[in-house]
Amino acid sequence: MRVGVLTGGGDCPGLNAVIRAVTKSLMRCCQAEVIGIEDGFAGLMEGRVRPLDWDAVSGILFSGGTILGTSNRANPLASKESTEQALAQAGVLGLDALVAIGGNGTMTIAHGLAERGLPIVGVPKTIDNDIEGCERSFGFDTAVATVTQALEHVQTTGQSHGRVMIVETMGRYAGWIALEAGIAGAADAILLPEIDFDPEALIELCRQREAKPRYTVICIAEGAKPRGGELTVERMIQDSPDPIRLGGVAHHLRTMLEPQLHSEVRATVLGHVQRGGSPTPFDRVLATQFGNHAAQLLEAGQFNRMVTLEHGAMGSIALEEVADRTRQVPLDHPLLETARDIGVCLGE
Ligand code: F6P
Repeated sequence: MRVGVLTGGGDCPGLNAVIRAVTKSLMRCCQAEVIGIEDGFAGLMEGRVRPLDWDAVSGILFSGGTILGTSNRANPLASKESTEQALAQAGVLGLDALVAIGGNGTMTIAHGLAERGLPIVGVPKTIDNDIEGCERSFGFDTAVATVTQALEHVQTTGQSHGRVMIVETMGRYAGWIALEAGIAGAADAILLPEIDFDPEALIELCRQREAKPRYTVICIAEGAKPRGGELTVERMIQDSPDPIRLGGVAHHLRTMLEPQLHSEVRATVLGHVQRGGSPTPFDRVLATQFGNHAAQLLEAGQFNRMVTLEHGAMGSIALEEVADRTRQVPLDHPLLETARDIGVCLGE
């Protein structure tokens, strides 16, 4: 068996752990020849590959990023010609199957190529934790740890100066990072894309806290917006399958709050620091399990499926149930109730 492995979309910590686990598992279980495809689907369409063997994937477990490179621009589904080019290159490379490690966009492309006959197994990665059918994607735990530390850091400076400190997280249209990090980092308010916030509720919170203990920490997801307001778009990447890049809502919120308060307000947009660093032990274990399970699916001939974590165990789901979907925080999620019960303002 000859299997191609690629990483698509934005990177996240743990990609190398999957590449390592899938390669080692396939070499042991199936004596497979494993081919690393460079820069995601761009490398597939251009036939840019390198061999992956035991030595090539040794010593990479701890490192962030991806040794294969990635791209969130190349889209083999953009036109009939590009789809044919991708499928033809898979044929030239002699691939019996492809392991596509990526997020929503990658799974949508994987589904499209699988429907046209390329056997694929997907592995869910993203710091956003927003992939349908999977309760935890690797990369998320590491991002939550990074944001939690940032929230801890702004607590002390916020306290010293008696300020309102706003910290903006990534997460696109899902609030998982802000919700978990906000709770772990003791935020006084957590603002999510799933719950449009009322600026008056935040002004009231900050005013109450101006008396004592003098400072307030707000954790806001990049996809959050005020009631009746718009998303804050940072830029458009026209040739990307998902061209919208969110960012900057923290500054928008600052301008809403500052004129209404005695305190100064400072905003920090964490940005890509959330995507870097060494994966946490949790993410290393999860990514290793995912890579191993992907190899098991290939060995069993179960294609066109994505590996999942369901109730803490490995599982899989048909790619067609994942493609073109986003998993947001459900409004009845127990963590929302916990946050409300301990007095965290959700902007309601
Ligand atoms: O999907 C991961 C993610 O980091 C989002 O949280 C963020 O909105 C987006 O990617 C940023 O994309 P780029 O790396 O293209 O700026």
